[in-house]
Amino acid sequence: MGGSVIWHVATSLDGYIAAPDGDVGWVFGHDFPGREAETTPGRIGAIIAGRVWHDECAARDWDVVVPYHGRWSGPIFVLTHRPPDASPLPVTFLTADINLAIRTARDAACGKDVGLFGADIPRQALEAGLLDEIIVHIVPILLGGGRRLCARDGPPIRLVNTQDKDHAAATLALRPEGKR
Ligand SMILES: NC(=O)c1ccc[n+]([C@@H]2O[C@H](COP(=O)([O-])OP(=O)(O)OC[C@H]3O[C@@H](n4cnc5c(N)ncnc54)[C@H](OP(=O)(O)O)[C@@H]3O)[C@@H](O)[C@H]2O)c1
Repeated sequence: MGGSVIWHVATSLDGYIAAPDGDVGWVFGHDFPGREAETTPGRIGAIIAGRVWHDECAARDWDVVVPYHGRWSGPIFVLTHRPPDASPLPVTFLTADINLAIRTARDAACGKDVGLFGADIPRQALEAGLLDEIIVHIVPILLGGGRRLCARDGPPIRLVNTQDKDHAAATLALRPEGKR
């Protein structure tokens, strides 16, 4: 297997992947159930991220923001129209459309899958018909604003469960913290 393009993401219940100030600290500290939470990093041979992710990470300690807490290693391509001369991060800058970016990452992934980070690049892959799978963790928080999971125009895109085709919908029972 391998060679698929996966969007691996955590979202708030109201559909944001980052708070308005870019904070993603709310993602951490949860045990995401399901086999995918364990196996997805191992499937990924190369990551494509964007310039916003890069600049946020570059402003912080790499040990803190390193993908998958350092349990993953491999090439990370950062798409940007304005590649800087250097980066404090172990990344390769690319100025390319999504087709070329995915081809490049696939070549570097040694037969494994390509993982997409953020929201902008996965949307480009989706619209280009290049996205094979979405692995999404729903975090029990209402952020109220921020970076939307999928800001796109166009008709609805129906999704099927890759594990159990009959049950793509989910039910969560939640209450505000502090309420009894
Ligand atoms: N919740 C989660 O699981 C999760 C996971 C990862 C990241 N995040 C968060 O998601 C946010 C980043 O995602 P994002 O979608 O907002 O932004 P992003 O993908 O990090 O960056 C978008 C930028 O990348 C550049 N870019 C994108 N496609 C390009 C292309 N084809 N060619 C050239 N440049 C291209 C453009 O920058 P320029 O034109 O300026 O160069 C674009 O404005 C961050 O806040 C990060 O912390 C959340």
